[in-house]
Amino acid sequence: MKKQVLFLTSLITLATASFAQENLIVNTYNRLSTSLNGSWKYIVDPYENGYYNYRYEPFDHQKNPGKAAFFMNSKPDNPSDLVEYDFDKMDSISVPGDWNTQKENLFYYEGTVWYKKSFDYTLTKKSNRVFVYFEASNYKTEVYFNGQKLGIHIGGFTPFNFEVTNMLKKTDNFLIVKVDNKRIKEGVPTLNTDWWNYGGLTRDVKLIETSENFIQDYFIQLDPNDNKKIKGYLTLNGKDIAHKRVQIKLPELKVKKKLITDENGTVSFEIVSNNINYWSVDNPFLYNVIIQTEEEEIKDQIGFRTIQTKDSQILLNEKPIYLKGISIHEESPLGNGRGYSEDDSKQLLEWAKELGCNYVRLAHYPHNEHMVRLADKMGMLVWEENPVYWTISWENEETFSNAENQLSEVINRDKNRASVIIWSMANETPTSNARNIFLTKLANYTRNKDPTRLISAALEQSDYQGNKFIRTIDDPFADVVDILSFNQYIGWYDGLPEKCSKISWIIEQDKPVLISEFGAGAKYGLHGDKDERWTEEYQENLYVKTLKMIDKIDQLQGFSPWILVDFRSPRRVLPEIQDGWNRKGLISEDGKKKKAFFVLQDYYNNITSPIKE
Ligand code: GCU
Repeated sequence: MKKQVLFLTSLITLATASFAQENLIVNTYNRLSTSLNGSWKYIVDPYENGYYNYRYEPFDHQKNPGKAAFFMNSKPDNPSDLVEYDFDKMDSISVPGDWNTQKENLFYYEGTVWYKKSFDYTLTKKSNRVFVYFEASNYKTEVYFNGQKLGIHIGGFTPFNFEVTNMLKKTDNFLIVKVDNKRIKEGVPTLNTDWWNYGGLTRDVKLIETSENFIQDYFIQLDPNDNKKIKGYLTLNGKDIAHKRVQIKLPELKVKKKLITDENGTVSFEIVSNNINYWSVDNPFLYNVIIQTEEEEIKDQIGFRTIQTKDSQILLNEKPIYLKGISIHEESPLGNGRGYSEDDSKQLLEWAKELGCNYVRLAHYPHNEHMVRLADKMGMLVWEENPVYWTISWENEETFSNAENQLSEVINRDKNRASVIIWSMANETPTSNARNIFLTKLANYTRNKDPTRLISAALEQSDYQGNKFIRTIDDPFADVVDILSFNQYIGWYDGLPEKCSKISWIIEQDKPVLISEFGAGAKYGLHGDKDERWTEEYQENLYVKTLKMIDKIDQLQGFSPWILVDFRSPRRVLPEIQDGWNRKGLISEDGKKKKAFFVLQDYYNNITSPIKE
């Protein structure tokens, strides 16, 4: 019996391990691709009946899974054949998009939904390879192609891809995806969050066609210690990648760099130039970058800038900068539910620009790639965050590798984006030994992977030596981060706005300080006394008082109030006020600006020399 259990577990780990995710392909926006967006068939499967047999054994762990397995897309061979599902007779759902706002009966649904897409495909070149690429899918995704399992992905906000070259047919290919958005304690995020747990294929799905040996990954950024030097590496993927000639061209810099890959198909390089037009918020200049091999060419648009801290200042291209920010959740400002499109991102960033911002905090998870590519073009600085939120299972090894994996995916995807300046490890996590170790390991991992950006996390403030009217940051992780950030809700969760005038701050760390959140709830159109909660006047007053209070923080170099737009949260149930929405937005869910919007706009537009020495 014991031997049997051991063997089974090793089989499962083997199975899971062998289906782990392949190396991420970067810059899919500039590659040969075929969109699989549009209408998909779906089956709602709360009992995971299409995945487990009645003995609760996974079909995809069996040599012959049989027709009952939904990923086989089976049809009865004859009238007496027993098949108890049929994708093609099912309802359709749009991809990309969450299922909660598309199907009324799935609004609160947390569980498994199966998606099916059929398609024909003709290679443009016989030797080419094909990958299926998901920009994101929430939360646990198992992918099957023509009845075979490709792999598993955990995490709802980062991309993943699987190769299908050897399984591809000219006609009648079927891609079946099991998406399960059930919240679990060991998950990242864990059980409780203050945002809607939108489920499904929430971002684009596409086929990427590459040459046999292709440019899989590259990192091209300025050396943080020498802004005349562009540094980087690139990696080829294929059977014939050793000692290959590669060329990098930057036409605007008149650079043509010839390189040879090593035996692993990788090469690092440096390009020195005195004529670099540095990317900045006032000059979001992007260079055309062309990478060529004997088999293929890929283009990208990359900005070059340095971002550093010096004592309590943040330096962009070696000049102090003040971050005039706002926090944003990835909800569609135009439609409904989880945002995913370029238009969604454009609207959110234009509202931030209108507010007078030069910086946005993308909370609490990686947003879609359109957001950071638009921020590059618009000259908007970006804080990206890993969904390590509130009470994660700090001692759980799998939870850690899950958090690390999600971080590696967003870094891989966005490491060439000039706009992205801060990687945030977590939000409002309670200090403990296990938590400190967990976050420090994540920070070290990030520094190794990307030494060109700054590390932070949304910490929490506390009383200074027991004095309620003096606040401070008493958190061991504050010693690890480059930028000290914290959320504070004085005047909302902690007293009334008047309290702000009684509060002073003692922050001992000689680091730049960013306030990652402050705010108050207000229902658009509800007016009353400034001490009457939920009125626009209360929120307006909170902003006025808070801006005065935080101005007293010596090291303050910016902030990102909570939040640009009202957003859905299952934790917000107050009738006629919240009705499922967190009302701390400066803009209502239907795009109407509240009074506090103009308080902040005025502050940002009239801020003269905010930078603290
Ligand atoms: C927290 C948290 C947010 C939440 C906000 C609120 O600080 O980080 O996710 O939405 O407070 O309570 O509105």
